[in-house]
Amino acid sequence: MVGKAILIVDDNPASRNFLASHLRGKQFKVLEAPTGKEGLIVAWRDAPDLILFDPTLHDISDQEFIQKLRNDPRTAATPLVALSTDPSPARRDVCLHLGVNEYLVKSSRAIPMLEESLTRLFDLETSTPTISKPVTEPQRNGLLMVFLSAKGGTGTSSLCANLAMNIQQKQPEARVVVADLVLPIGSVGQIVGEKGNINLVTVSDLPSDQTNADYFHKNLPQPNLWLFQLLPGSPDPEQANSLKGERIGQIVDTLCSAYDFVLLDLGRSLSRIGLPLIQKADLIILIVSTDQSTIQLTKTIWDYLQAQGVDSQKIYAILNRAVGLEGLTKSQAEEIIGLPIKTTLPYMGSNFALANNLNQPITIKYATDTASIIFKSTAEDMVSLARRLRAR
Ligand SMILES: Nc1ncnc2c1ncn2[C@@H]1O[C@H](COP(=O)(O)OP(=O)(O)OP(=O)(O)O)[C@@H](O)[C@H]1O
Ligand SMILES: [Mg+2]
Repeated sequence: MVGKAILIVDDNPASRNFLASHLRGKQFKVLEAPTGKEGLIVAWRDAPDLILFDPTLHDISDQEFIQKLRNDPRTAATPLVALSTDPSPARRDVCLHLGVNEYLVKSSRAIPMLEESLTRLFDLETSTPTISKPVTEPQRNGLLMVFLSAKGGTGTSSLCANLAMNIQQKQPEARVVVADLVLPIGSVGQIVGEKGNINLVTVSDLPSDQTNADYFHKNLPQPNLWLFQLLPGSPDPEQANSLKGERIGQIVDTLCSAYDFVLLDLGRSLSRIGLPLIQKADLIILIVSTDQSTIQLTKTIWDYLQAQGVDSQKIYAILNRAVGLEGLTKSQAEEIIGLPIKTTLPYMGSNFALANNLNQPITIKYATDTASIIFKSTAEDMVSLARRLRAR
């Protein structure tokens, strides 16, 4: 614990000075910021090991402060401890919900409680095995998001590509990759207009020491207009037959170490290959449509996943009205499946297919359409949920 850098963000100078001198006395390296905005700058510039802050900052709301830290890859995983002037449970709940690790109230017991928190958080960190980091590229621990559906044609591939685009648009500095694992033929390449020679089958044919982070960064295509890199799927059933399935797990692990966000299109193949990926995903995006049979099949899939130990909090169900307004309502669907639906995407008529045929992202082709706004907010919501679940 000794020598760890702690950033104190508190606009009360007396409180800040007291905490700083106490922590320096405990051999911590202390950084200080007198306002929330300066706190953000120091946090991103100096990468402290922990941020201790009073959420009652005057220049920025607690909510915005925490979200800015959690939504930036440089501080997404930094332990956050609130040492607050405000004892109200409402503020405490909001802070913890947004990803603060511990919420303490300023009182005579605050210092011993803070010390316990620091021990807990730093011990937790050192007890996790660390992998030696390459000198040139930081070792990432990307958030893994898998997309699946119970039935074909529900929009899984289109949503995977468009949500990846929105995640990348929101965070231009992050590295985002989409991998199409749908067998026997992938379709993300077709949606984004990628026609190159690299695909899942060719990559799985290469020796594992060759397909390292650097290989993916340098060789995966970045389709025109789409900001992420893509590992396209199998181009035809014949090549799919020669796929070395046992390599998929390693490939996904490498992608997670090389990218900040790894989005996998699993389609409706709940296979031997897909299940372990679902089990280790940070977020499972389940695409459902409103027709009876898809809803019933989705329930079967969810029952199965539950039996395999999948945590319901990781399921992010999206109702995609890919076929118009007929069918069940959102609440009927929720009741049958037994899961909350987090977002509903409206029926876009032929516009959706047109954007796909032109290989354009919805947010570019129909920037002001309701669907674009929903894509944007859904992408943000998914990222913040995945981060909160990771920080648990
Ligand atoms: N909200 C929507 N409004 C209108 N059309 C949509 C919508 N969502 C998807 N579609 C259309 O549905 C079709 C299927 O989409 P997509 O290929 O993404 O689905 P999928 O679940 O991946 O299918 P597959 O089982 O073939 O992999 C596409 O033609 C797409 O344009
Ligand atoms: Mg598909």
